[in-house]
Amino acid sequence: LFSAIDMAPRDPILGVTEAFNADTNPSKVNLGVGVYYDDNGKVPLLACVQKAEALLMEKAAPRTYLPIEGLAAYDRAVQDLVFGADSAVVREKRAITAQAIGGTGALKLGADFLKRFSPDAQIYISDPSWENHRALFESAGFQVNTYPYYDANTRGVNFDGMLQALQTMPAGSVVVLHACCHNPTGADLSDAQWTQIIEVVTSRGLIPFLDMAYQGFGEGIEADGQVVRRFADAGGPLFVSNSFSKSFSLYGERVGALSIVAASAEEAARVMSQLKRVIRTNYSNPPSHGGQVVATVLSTPELRQLWEDELAGMRVRIREMRAAFVAGLKEAAPNHNFDFVMQQRGMFSYSGLSKEQVTVLREQHSVYAVDTGRICVAALNSKNIGHVLSAIAQVL
Ligand code: LMR
Repeated sequence: LFSAIDMAPRDPILGVTEAFNADTNPSKVNLGVGVYYDDNGKVPLLACVQKAEALLMEKAAPRTYLPIEGLAAYDRAVQDLVFGADSAVVREKRAITAQAIGGTGALKLGADFLKRFSPDAQIYISDPSWENHRALFESAGFQVNTYPYYDANTRGVNFDGMLQALQTMPAGSVVVLHACCHNPTGADLSDAQWTQIIEVVTSRGLIPFLDMAYQGFGEGIEADGQVVRRFADAGGPLFVSNSFSKSFSLYGERVGALSIVAASAEEAARVMSQLKRVIRTNYSNPPSHGGQVVATVLSTPELRQLWEDELAGMRVRIREMRAAFVAGLKEAAPNHNFDFVMQQRGMFSYSGLSKEQVTVLREQHSVYAVDTGRICVAALNSKNIGHVLSAIAQVL
């Protein structure tokens, strides 16, 4: 059985971490995976999370199975956060939400659900997109296509190309869109551009699948959630995967959710019944700890405020690192202009470094980035930035 099995390539993102972990250079820096580190290079354990965990410990609740769709308090809290507490789709019970194993798990549930009920649909992801989008939908059995997104010349969005592609996709195609903080480019659409996208997606009968893994890392929790709310206002069908890995710094707890907006409460109930079958045959029901923590924070006013403050702190520090990166390269590599890094939003910068330059960064300087040139600005800090800047200046 095993003798004919080929070695699989390393994962394009998590494989970078594997290589980083094996590097013995004490100056090594991992700018590969999308993880926020504080100025001491540590993944923070948020105070709101610690306080919620203390409350949960006190309760000493038994570890029973959660419902298939997850903790009810968590699913409600996610709906309020994602669609807004006053949302019509929530009030009218047209939106359903199921806890998922991180944002990736939510995407996989959505992909499996779609494969059951729209097996021949074409899937469209942005060019480029998060590497796992393609892999996930392909492994669910779909053909995955791309729509134009990034314009390397302007370092912004090729909006005309994107719009044109949407206008020619077959009705019923699933369009995966990044709700905020586009991964990997950091280039987002403007409000006015979203208006046009929502119009064409809706009028052409395309199915939007919004992936929101970085809510709060762009402009703020409310502002970053606007795109989801605007799509929800336009009516269903709509799929939304969201993740608390980054915004709660709960990476290893795998806390995410899949929400689906249907045309009526009755339709939504049928959708939920089928989604539960998808979950049951994947992993039965989700783990409870991360969901309990997030539900406790979101439903306890003082903890919710603390979370918003801590998230704002992460957002501000990333912006400071962007500014320091741009200013540092102005000095270290004066013939190159990196001003565009300030326009990018979220954790990442699509730096424009080539695969060859990324290889030299890794092999000669122990600075790790994704082969596409994506670097995680959220992993820079006041101690490692000097090493990173001089390494980049040398490879340039
Ligand atoms: C990333 O893009 O680095 C993150 O979303 C982590 C992951 O799972 O790839």
